Amino acid sequence: MVGELNTLKTEAEQSFQDAATKDDVEKLRVGFLGKKGKLTSVLRGMGKLSKEDRPKVGSKANEVRDLLEELVKSNLLRIKEKERAAEFEDRIDVTLPGRRRGYGRTHPLTRTADDILSVLSSLGFTLAEGPEIEHDFYNFEALNMPADHPARDMQDTFYINDDVVLRTHTSPVQIRAMLSLKKAPVRVACFGRVYRNDHDVTHSPMFHQIEGLYVDKQVTFGDLKGTLQVFAERIFRPGTKVRLRPSFFPFTEPSAEVDITCFMCAGEGTLKTGDTCRICKGTGWIEIMGAGMVDPEVFKHSGFDPDEVSGFAFGIGVERVAMLRYGISDIRLFFENDQRFLHQFF
Ligand code: DAH
Repeated sequence: MVGELNTLKTEAEQSFQDAATKDDVEKLRVGFLGKKGKLTSVLRGMGKLSKEDRPKVGSKANEVRDLLEELVKSNLLRIKEKERAAEFEDRIDVTLPGRRRGYGRTHPLTRTADDILSVLSSLGFTLAEGPEIEHDFYNFEALNMPADHPARDMQDTFYINDDVVLRTHTSPVQIRAMLSLKKAPVRVACFGRVYRNDHDVTHSPMFHQIEGLYVDKQVTFGDLKGTLQVFAERIFRPGTKVRLRPSFFPFTEPSAEVDITCFMCAGEGTLKTGDTCRICKGTGWIEIMGAGMVDPEVFKHSGFDPDEVSGFAFGIGVERVAMLRYGISDIRLFFENDQRFLHQFF
C-alpha cells in the first residue's frame, strides 16, 4: 500500500503541474481528495492491514494528504498570478510614447495685478487687505456716501442684509488702513475682488481692483499726477502721457478721470496704415482709472484731521488694464478657464 501511495504522489505532482485553470485544479482536488477520490479509496483498504503495517501506512497517507492540499493551494496561486500577468500584458504597451505633462501659466489677470502691484511697491506702497463681505459703513458711509444719497446709484450692490454688502470697490480698504495705522504717513495698495450688479462684454459681476492711498503732511495734487505718470509709463510704455479730466467721486475732492495716451497708436488716433485706431476709437486717449484728493469727510471718518494731513487716492480695474494690454474684447474669457485662451499668455 505504501507503494500505491507513492505512485499516487508522483501522479498527483505531474497532474497538478499540467493544470492550466482554476477549474482544472478543482477537478484534480475532487479526483484525489474527494469522497470518491483516489486517496480515499486507497485508505479504504486500510482496514485489511495488519496492526504492524497500519501506523506506517497511516503516516504515509497523512504525508500524501498534506502534499495534495499543498498542491491545490500552490497551483491555485500559480494560476492566479499567471492570469494577472496576462491581463497586464494586454493593457500595457511599453512602446507607446509617454504622456506629456502640461505646464501651467500665469493667468493674465494675475500677471496684470502682479505688474501693477510691483510698480506700486517700487513707489513705496505696501499691500493692505480687507474683507470682500463688507459693512455698509466702510463701503459707503465712511466714503462720504450716506444712505439715501444719490451717489450710491453709481454702484449697484449685492446686499447680504441692510448693513452688509459684497464690497463694490476696494476703497473701503482705505478706511480700514487709516483706522488701523492711525498716523501718517499711510501708503498702501489694496488688491482684491469686488462685486457689482452688472454684466455685459466689458463688465462682470465679480472683478478686481487695485486701490492706492497716500496720506501725509502736504501731499499735493502734483504728487498724484507725478505718481500716475510713473505708473502709466511702467505699466504701458515709456513716453505714455497722462491727462486728468475733472470728474466726481464722493470720497475725493477734487476728483479726476485718468486718461493715458493710447499705446496702440501712440496717441495719434490713426495707425500707420491710415486706419482709425480701434483701441482709442480715434481719440488718442484711453480712460484707465479714477483718482483724486482724499475728501475731508473721509479723513474725519478715519481718525485723521484734515487740517493736518492731505492725501491722494486712485482706483484701477485690473480686468480693464488686462483687456487693453492684451487686446481682449470680452471680459468673460478671463473666467471661463478655456485652455486655448489661457495658453496664449506667458
Ligand atoms: N472706487 C472707485 C470705483 O470703484 C474708483 C476710485 C476712484 C477709487 C477715485 C479712488 C479714487 O480711490 O480716488 O469706481
